[in-house]
Amino acid sequence: MKTLKQDLNNLIGDALASSANMSSCNANVITASKPGFGDYQANGVMAIAKQLNVKPQELAKLVQDHLETREQELVERFEIAGPGFINIFLRDSQLIKRANSMLANPDLLVPKAESPQIIVVDYSSPNLAKEMHVGHLRGTIIGDSLVRIFERLGHKVIRQNHVGDWGTQFGMLIACMRELTTEHDALPNELTDLEEFYKAAKQRFDSDPDFAASARSSVVKLQSKDAEYMAIWEQFIEESMHHCEAIYEKLKVTLNREDLDAESSYNDDLPEIVRLLASKELLTKSDGAMCVFLPEFVGKNNDPLPVIIQKSDGSYLYSTTDLAAIKLRSYELKADRSIYVVDVRQSLHFQQVFAVAKLSGLASSAISLEHISYGTMMGKDGKPFKTRSGETIKLIELLDESVQRAFTLVTDKNPQFSESERQQIAAKIGIAAVKYADLSKNRTSNYIFDWSSMLSFEGNTAPYLLYAYARIKSILRKHQEIADDRYLITLVSEPEERVLLVKNLQLTEIIHAIATDCYPNHLCNYLYELAGSFMRFYETCPMLKAETPLKESRLALSRLTAENLQQGLHLLGIETLEKM
Ligand code: ARG
Repeated sequence: MKTLKQDLNNLIGDALASSANMSSCNANVITASKPGFGDYQANGVMAIAKQLNVKPQELAKLVQDHLETREQELVERFEIAGPGFINIFLRDSQLIKRANSMLANPDLLVPKAESPQIIVVDYSSPNLAKEMHVGHLRGTIIGDSLVRIFERLGHKVIRQNHVGDWGTQFGMLIACMRELTTEHDALPNELTDLEEFYKAAKQRFDSDPDFAASARSSVVKLQSKDAEYMAIWEQFIEESMHHCEAIYEKLKVTLNREDLDAESSYNDDLPEIVRLLASKELLTKSDGAMCVFLPEFVGKNNDPLPVIIQKSDGSYLYSTTDLAAIKLRSYELKADRSIYVVDVRQSLHFQQVFAVAKLSGLASSAISLEHISYGTMMGKDGKPFKTRSGETIKLIELLDESVQRAFTLVTDKNPQFSESERQQIAAKIGIAAVKYADLSKNRTSNYIFDWSSMLSFEGNTAPYLLYAYARIKSILRKHQEIADDRYLITLVSEPEERVLLVKNLQLTEIIHAIATDCYPNHLCNYLYELAGSFMRFYETCPMLKAETPLKESRLALSRLTAENLQQGLHLLGIETLEKM
């Protein structure tokens, strides 16, 4: 089944092409910008009229005539408006038919994509030398919503958690670990707080020359794969991964060990990358380092900006590993798309790496490399979100605080629930609030982290949507006898009812759009509007007092709305609650 928009684009695109004597035309159908304009509107006439140098309204009239001679069931009437828009009024019976097929098979709320692809999604990807902090939240959450959406559309998704587990910082940490690991294989206590451990190591590195020397020699030992050093490193990485996994578990993020794509796993491939770039004559020696200079990248004063591939001491860089990863994603994973959900501050890095990969053939001609960037989470003071004393906030502490705050809220609202019930509800609301606050903002802008707005039951928030869902479920429970799946939508009598019906058919359009441009905030807006449409429907369309057929139909429409909210929230990585 196609989306309404796709069907309308085909129908009107055809009519437009025939009227314009062209082989194909884009009807440019969008959802109507005002209620009086119908359900959808086609905006494509103006552009074609301009091309042909004819009056847009005359062309629109031709298209309308054309459409009226066609056999089709979907549209009741077309109206020409303004400078050549075609307003589209859909037939109720067709809307009802589509909605009922969704009720019978909820998978149809979002049908599969026509041509499934292989899509690599690189997300979360923390640096394992430190603990995950608030800066890792956005990428982890946005990436996880995207993988859910791609999978739902039937694409083959390969998650890649490109963790930073290699490099000079690890020399410093190993030097510290060596002093501590004494008895047996037990892990030193100091490692329970990785952040403190890192800070202590860094402080010693900066202040104690002997320690700094030992840290440097540890890097060399590690790079030469010395067994003792490798064992300590593995122990450290394992511990750090446990910290990440605790967070993934709390966030219900769908990343696990199989998705690891550690930087260290590319070590052996890096010399080959250098050879390949050299064979393509792309490498230039600059201050002893091997670099690629591309004319499109220049810095201040038009100085050429290098992509450094190998330093003079023989070590490799972040970019080198990313090039090796692109090679794997292109030729072994055979990806159609490789998506990087990474902070906008790495834009230049990705532009450069992508350019080198394409030029050198390390990227296949088939792969689309996409940096899906996001902005910074800010505090109320408009500066990057930190503790009062200016320290980075650990992600785990932020999540725990959210659940705590949600618990207070739930207790205020539902003192009659048992403590364990309140805890369960709070765990879901607390996590949902943090996730939703993030997902509902346009990812490319910075946003202000604000507890009171994200935990509010009003506005475009997780509590509001979860509450709307729980409310519909409670209505359905009240009318259990006629709210089961034998009952379908049979009529629409009120405008609010019709608005809700049309809205329910549009989840699929939103999901298809997000699969292209990767903006999950459009799904949040959609769900918020859906919930709002339901509330207005519920206020104006009595359910209890309605005659039986209407009552059945309205309950069926409510059931579809609940299903839709649940599926939509699930695609954002948010779990619903049956009651709250
Ligand atoms: N580990 C990096 C960081 O913390 C992010 C890695 C993103 N992925 C990539 N393939 N470069 O900044």
